Formats: sequence, C-alpha cells, structure tokens
Amino acid sequence: MIRRLRLLSGLVMLAYVTMHLANHAVGLISLKAMEDVLWYIFRIWTNRPAQLLLYSSFLVHYALALYALWQRRTLRLRLSELSQIVLGFGIPLLLVRHVVATRISDSFFHTDVGYYAYLLWVYFVRSPDYGFVQMLVLVVAWGHAMIGLHFWLRVRPWYARLQPAALVVAVLVPVLSLLGAIEAGRQVIALAADPGWTREAFALPSPETQRALEAITEILTWFFAGVVAAVLLARLVRRAWRRRRGLVRIGYPDGRVVEVTPGTSVLEASRLAGIPHASVCGGRGRCSTCRVRVRGEIRSIDPPAEDELRVLRRIGATSNVRLACQLRPRGAIEVTPLLPPFAHAADGRRRVDFAQGSEREIAIMFVDIRGFTALSEGRLPYDVVFVLNRYFAAIGLAVEAAGGHVDKFIGDGVMALFGIERGAHAGCREALTAARLMSARLPELNASLRAELDRPLRIGIGVHCGPTIVGEMGYGNAAAITAIGDAVNTASRLESLTKNFACELVVSEETVSRAGLDLSAFPRREIEIRGKREMLAVRTLVSAAELPCSRIDDEHRPSTPGVKR
Ligand code: FES
Repeated sequence: MIRRLRLLSGLVMLAYVTMHLANHAVGLISLKAMEDVLWYIFRIWTNRPAQLLLYSSFLVHYALALYALWQRRTLRLRLSELSQIVLGFGIPLLLVRHVVATRISDSFFHTDVGYYAYLLWVYFVRSPDYGFVQMLVLVVAWGHAMIGLHFWLRVRPWYARLQPAALVVAVLVPVLSLLGAIEAGRQVIALAADPGWTREAFALPSPETQRALEAITEILTWFFAGVVAAVLLARLVRRAWRRRRGLVRIGYPDGRVVEVTPGTSVLEASRLAGIPHASVCGGRGRCSTCRVRVRGEIRSIDPPAEDELRVLRRIGATSNVRLACQLRPRGAIEVTPLLPPFAHAADGRRRVDFAQGSEREIAIMFVDIRGFTALSEGRLPYDVVFVLNRYFAAIGLAVEAAGGHVDKFIGDGVMALFGIERGAHAGCREALTAARLMSARLPELNASLRAELDRPLRIGIGVHCGPTIVGEMGYGNAAAITAIGDAVNTASRLESLTKNFACELVVSEETVSRAGLDLSAFPRREIEIRGKREMLAVRTLVSAAELPCSRIDDEHRPSTPGVKR
C-alpha cells in the first residue's frame, strides 16, 4: 500500500512537472507562446479536483519519504539511491520561494502575478540569484523523478529495450526546458529595458505583501529543513536506544559475522559491513535480486509480509528463501546470498527452483519438418524464414494451448517440455494433446502456405517421458529453462524414427500409459535405444490427429485461441 501510494503520488507530480517543463520549452518559440500554453495548463491544474490531487500527492509523497528515511537503518547506499534521497529532500527547500511567490501569493494575497512575464522579470532582471535557484530546482526535481522512474521500471523485462530512447527523453526534456526559459528570459531582459514595460505588463505586489511573502518563505524553509533534521536526529536516538537492547548477529558464508541493531534488514547489514550484495531495485522489495537462503533459528525471523510473499511466490522460493531487503531478524541467523552482487534485473526474474536445477519427471516432445532441406532449396531466404515462422507459430500455439513450454527452436525442429509444474502424468496428457493439435492444425497451415510451397509440410513428432534435470541453463539473456537427461535424448530419437516408420508420431508406451490413453488400435513396436539394454516399447501413428482426446483437451478448450479443433 505504501509503495503504491508513493508511486502514484510521484506519478501525479511527475505529470505536473513534465507539463511545466514542456511549457518552459515553448519559450524557444516566444514569450507569448509560453503564456498561451500556460493558460491551458492553468485550466487543468487550477480546477479544484486537480489541485486537491496535486497538493495531496505532494503531502503523501513527502510524508512517505520521511517515513522511508526513518525506516532505513543505514544511509550507506549506492550513489543513485543516495542521490535520489538528497535530491528529493532538496526540492521543497529550493522550490519554496517559487511556490510562495506564485501559488500562495495568488491564492492568499490575490496578487495575480503567476505569469511568465513577471516571474522571468524577477528571475532574470530583479534577482538573478533566485533565477539560478529556479534553474537548479528544475534539474533537481527532474533528476529525482527520473531516478525514481528508473528504479520502478528497471525490473520490467521490456525496460532494457526502451532504455536508450528513455534516456534521450530524460535528457532532452530538462535541456529544452532550460533553453526555453533562458530564451524567454532574454526576451524579458530586452523588454525590461523600457521602464514603462514593467508597469504595463504586471502589477508588483505591495511592499507589505512582499514582506509577508518573505516571512512565509522563511518559515517554510525552516520547516522543511527542520523536519528532515528531526528525522535524522530521531534515527540517532533510536540507534543508541536499540544498541542498549543488544545486537543481532548475521552470519555470511565466508564466515563473516555482522552485528546490527534489531530492526536492521539483512541488506542493510551487508551494506553496513561493506559486503557486496545484489539489490537492483534499491531495497524496494520488487526485484528479488537480494534473495538469501536463511539458516539458523527460524523463530528469530517474522514471516514475510504480503508484498514480499508475492515476490517469493513469483520466483518459486522455498520456505527458507527470503528477500534480504525485507528480512529484519530479531535474533542470530546465517544467510547465503543466492545471486552474485552484480546480478541484473533479468536474474531477479529467475525462479529459485529452476535456477538451482532439480530432478523432475516430465514429458519431452521433439517436432521436425520432414524433408525441409529439399523444401528450402532454391528459395529466397525471406521465403524460408516466412514459412518457418508460420510453422513455429503453429507448433508453439499448440504446445502452449496444451499447457506445455516451448524449450527451443533448433533449425526447423522444436523441443517442448510438459509437466514441469504439474508432474509427469499431466505432462504426458498435455504432450499428446499438443501432438494431436499440431497434426489437426497442419492442413490449415498448409492451406495458408499453398502459394509458398510446392508440396505440403509434413512433420515428425517424438514423445517420451522420464526423469530429467530441469533448470535454467545458459548465459546472460540467453539463459532459459531447459531439461537434460536420457529421456530427452530418447524423445529426440523417437522423433527421428518417424522417418523409418513413415509415420507422424512415435510415442513411448510409458507416455501413453501415464497419459491414460488406449492406443491399442495402433501398431506397437519394440525399439533399441543406444546405451540401453532393454528394448523400448513405442506406438506409431500415421497421423497424430487420430489420437483420442484426453481430459486435458477439455480442460484447455476455453483457453486455446487460434487453435482449431
Ligand atoms: S533489493 Fe530488490 S527485492 Fe530486495
């Protein structure tokens, strides 16, 4: 709830600031254009609900920032995190004069001076030092917002792709805004050379009003500085008080023990002790890169709160895995960070169980196009890629519709896994359903590719089940969940046997029996598998579309868009 409120209030203020900065940038056109745009922006933000939303967003955001400062047990942070905090608390201090001179002056003293002509005259002619502060706060507020936005979005899978474009926007907005303000300021300096212009352009606040506004500015400046100082002081008092209640010992795998005051998170303990610890989201409990395995007295840790639990579920964490940034032990524990300190956001999306690897009984399917080399000969690369992608889409849809997982595309072949989550029996039913769907869908695919192909596509499918090692394997962005083991090799072998038996599907008897299907009407053969003494019983089907429907077909019927039955 707190995180959501902070995000929403921040986004409201970002919307306001972005419009404001865009308005400044219009100064590159002319002062008049700036004033015109300001009129529209005023209409939006000076109506009651918008005002209420903006002011309450500021109050909520500021109060939550103070609360976050209080919650932190250490300010030993990464530069980006520290910058966000410093810039954030700097904004009210730098902005208070501007707000008093415009909003408070207008609302309580009815001065009607909140227009560019007056403000630019103040900032560029009468008090250039105030003008400098205004330029500074523009950069500070935008910088604070961009760091926050970056922390929020960096855990999203699509963010890395958008980042270069986002960076361009993040730099362009303040640069154009500053250039617009400076250009308009130059125009105002030229206009102000005529002493009559200021009299005509705006009415200056009276000296009494000016004095009152100065006094309000001073009070508010002291207030904002005082509140932050009070929280920092309170943190010191709390630390001294907690130290007297004893320290909590946190052990690390290299034998190091860090003693911290109760209430300190494991991530904060790592930082206090200078132990490198991954934390892509900066301790906001969103990225899961700080995950640790906990050993020791489980009684000395509280169960995860709802937000942490959601992240732990997402990564398939076992009960002894926790987020270091959320875990605040009350007694001695030992922790082992599960990801390296340089982990990326993508690593945080890796499931704990898969990242570690585990032995699972699953069903494995290999699919291949028959005679694809001959089919692709003499064709333009574009045509080959087009046909392959249509075929991959059809196969992929069938696999997913049945509940499986496409493991990889190898040339014109596809490897798919079934039952990773639900076990071998469900996996076998799913795999055979996928085979039936693929075969049933093939005529439709061939019809749509008639113009591209001399002869229809034919496929060979091999399905087997058995124990495998399932885990996330590979490197960097190419790491993905896959399976290795004898059962995988056997499934591949069954697929290649479809050529020998001139059929579409070769499936092991083991798979058929686990799927609970009766395939006694189809030929049964015994085949030799390299490296095995026993023969393997298989069933061969000329068309996998002849497979009887299993329960899984009905289970998946409503959720199979694009798959015709
Ligand atoms: S640092 Fe991101 S979840 Fe802990």
